[in-house]
Amino acid sequence: MQTYEQVDNYMKALDLKYYKGTNEFLANLMLKTDKGYVKELADTLNSRAQGQNSDNEYFYKLKNRTLDGSLCVSAAFDSGLFRHLGNMIIDGKEYFHGTVLDIGCDCGLVSCFIAQQYPECKVVGVDKNEAAVNNAKELAERLGLANTEFVTADIYDFNLDEKADVATSFRGLLDIAQRQTSGVSVIGERGAREGAYQQAFLPLATAIGNNLKDGGTVISVERYTAMYGWLGWMQALAQNGICPLVEQCARMVAQDISSAKDYSVTFAQKNCNASPIEAYNYVMEKTFKSGAGVSGADAEFALYFDSDEIEFTDVYKGEKLLHQFAKAVSKGGKYMFYEADLDYRKLKYCNEKKKIKADEDFDRKLALYNKDEFKIKVYSVKS
Ligand SMILES: C[S@@+](CC[C@H](N)C(=O)[O-])C[C@H]1O[C@@H](n2cnc3c(N)ncnc32)[C@H](O)[C@@H]1O
Repeated sequence: MQTYEQVDNYMKALDLKYYKGTNEFLANLMLKTDKGYVKELADTLNSRAQGQNSDNEYFYKLKNRTLDGSLCVSAAFDSGLFRHLGNMIIDGKEYFHGTVLDIGCDCGLVSCFIAQQYPECKVVGVDKNEAAVNNAKELAERLGLANTEFVTADIYDFNLDEKADVATSFRGLLDIAQRQTSGVSVIGERGAREGAYQQAFLPLATAIGNNLKDGGTVISVERYTAMYGWLGWMQALAQNGICPLVEQCARMVAQDISSAKDYSVTFAQKNCNASPIEAYNYVMEKTFKSGAGVSGADAEFALYFDSDEIEFTDVYKGEKLLHQFAKAVSKGGKYMFYEADLDYRKLKYCNEKKKIKADEDFDRKLALYNKDEFKIKVYSVKS
């Protein structure tokens, strides 16, 4: 992808690379830190990748043992994203004025870029990790920035003396709302599922609302996407009077050293009035490609967007929703068969002839769930 010169120059000034693989990253990290640190970090990253040791506080403390080490880790995991963010920050000049509050700023990589690009702004970075905040201060000093302030604080208890014109969160939500989202299902009927995310995100959205001026803007780029959580995040903001700027919202894909990852881009403003579902549908419709079959987030979008009523069949083990089936009729008169589990979603459009086979498939899959062990719930929703 093409990045603005300012983005590449910033990366160069910090000696940050767009790493192509783990070996290159670890070799570079070795140059900037030492053997013991590289081993400790590699072990921690491995155990996190295997789903163990997901203690984020420990990870961010380790990451921020030194500024150069922390920047190097950010480059490995976020340089692909940073290219998009950098471009977005430059393109979004109309939003960057006055005070910018960067939530979960970590070592200040993005906060300092904003401060450098918009010297007339005052950028306040907040993070609960003191080591990260000290690194952010050191980074600002290294770059000769006079318009930053970094504060060690929990954003849920934080109050700016003078409210911000812009609040940003770049990949913050996953960590900042980790406790609140614990146990919230990643599948399930969209209204109920996103309602649960809305509740989980509400305390953070309220904290942001309390720190934002009337007419102020929220810009967030998060790993909660159209698959789950993004709509709930926009709903939590809207509950605080911060409503989406529909045409600025988007889906984003960025590469890190291990894979290409999806992100949601939210632009929202206090005291405007578009609805989250309007923004969600606008974004989804723009990239949606219809066909006989659709997968991923597009499958669920099509199910709701292209029907009037949906009949769901949910399979639970205890309290946990494992598998979800749905049937509906599309606005064009086709039969829709939807299926989701924790790993995938797909939707099939069938004509009258193929419907017989799809119904048989549906019955066969459902019969695999023994009624003594699994709970089956059937219900309809208006879409
Ligand atoms: C993924 S990092 C953010 C990356 C950073 N925004 C960037 O663009 O480079 C998430 C950060 O959120 C911070 N964090 C988690 N919970 C927080 C809270 N309650 N208040 C403030 N910061 C928090 C963590 O310490 C961590 O530095």
